[in-house]
Amino acid sequence: MRIQPSKNIQQLPLGVFNQLLRAKRRVMESGKPVIDLSVGSPDLPPPREVMEEIRKWSMDGSKYGYTLEAIPSFNGKVAAFYEERYGVRLNPRDEVLQLIGSQDGLAHLAMTVIDPGDVVLVPDPGYPIYEASVRIAGGVPYPMPLEEENGFLPRLEAIPEAVLGRAKMMLLNYPGNPVTAMADRAFFEELVRFAKKHEILIAHDFTYSELVFDGRRAVSFLSVPGAKEVGVEFNSFSKTFNMAGCRIGYVVGHPEVLQALGRLMSHTQYGIFYPIQKAAEAALDTGDAFIRRQVETYQARRDALVERLAAGGWEVAKPPATMYVWAKIPEGWSSESFVFRVLEETGVVLTPGRAFGEKGEGYVRITLVQPEDRLKEAADRIGRFLEGR
Ligand SMILES: Cc1ncc(COP(=O)(O)O)c(C=O)c1O
Repeated sequence: MRIQPSKNIQQLPLGVFNQLLRAKRRVMESGKPVIDLSVGSPDLPPPREVMEEIRKWSMDGSKYGYTLEAIPSFNGKVAAFYEERYGVRLNPRDEVLQLIGSQDGLAHLAMTVIDPGDVVLVPDPGYPIYEASVRIAGGVPYPMPLEEENGFLPRLEAIPEAVLGRAKMMLLNYPGNPVTAMADRAFFEELVRFAKKHEILIAHDFTYSELVFDGRRAVSFLSVPGAKEVGVEFNSFSKTFNMAGCRIGYVVGHPEVLQALGRLMSHTQYGIFYPIQKAAEAALDTGDAFIRRQVETYQARRDALVERLAAGGWEVAKPPATMYVWAKIPEGWSSESFVFRVLEETGVVLTPGRAFGEKGEGYVRITLVQPEDRLKEAADRIGRFLEGR
């Protein structure tokens, strides 16, 4: 018997990272040393207190049961963090919901708020789960082009009325992945007015909230007056505290959205391992110093990579935030042909911009999750490759 996947699942492309992994394996088998700058998984350890909490609680045999939901102190700690860092007041009772990573919440959000055929506005290029989650839920993604001329912000006025009439939700991500741009307060204010006028839920992914360079700070969407009435914001421990493998995050904002998502989660999952929850609380309590060190490290890596690429003849823009460089590729290549050729010739793994949407064509994403000397080595190899063409 042959089993056909559902139509919704058939529409999903095979994740680009799987394709890259296969190509990378082939290059490794050929004996070339690989430098992987494709996946955004932090290479640095979390704060010491985080590891200590995991060690302590993992030795308590009574903590291995289902937790079902957040432990009682968790939501209050998230609320305190949000107030201190972004000036946003949250009610821990119904404006915070713990997630198995922001990914899981993002993956399920569309399922909880849209019906088949509803339109969801998604950034193009955008982080792949935005479009995929809409397709899984039977919705219709409508790509909003993010273009350099507009600071990589969507042009809200360019979305056709007919689309707006069917649109139920918009997904956004600033500072973003793969496009590392930031949104300012004025844009978020406009967004709140737009959302109210057209009755569109705003879901802002703030996963890179703390990895911001050059002394700047990112604006939380929820810090704009009226935002909580029209939207939610996702956040994560993965990047801020190097806890990607722990799988813990949260969503804050509109209580009815959180309630609906919580209802779905009560069927799909039974809570996060207690030691991980305690470790996440410890992370929120660590204070400014860890985050500052983190920012300094990524900023130094960014500078090292971008300057070395420039020395090799490839000028790319310095990202204002995140752990990525969104680099315009030299003329004469498609993003995929560039990435696969660079991989074969140099052993450096990049991600083709096209993997994030049509408007990603012409760019590649380079991650900063390697020490500075490895990044410089990667830049040198790419420089030699470009010179030899
Ligand atoms: C923009 C964005 N959102 C969400 C996630 C998922 O993060 P988490 O580990 O919290 O699930 C990532 C991970 O790379 C990301 O880049």
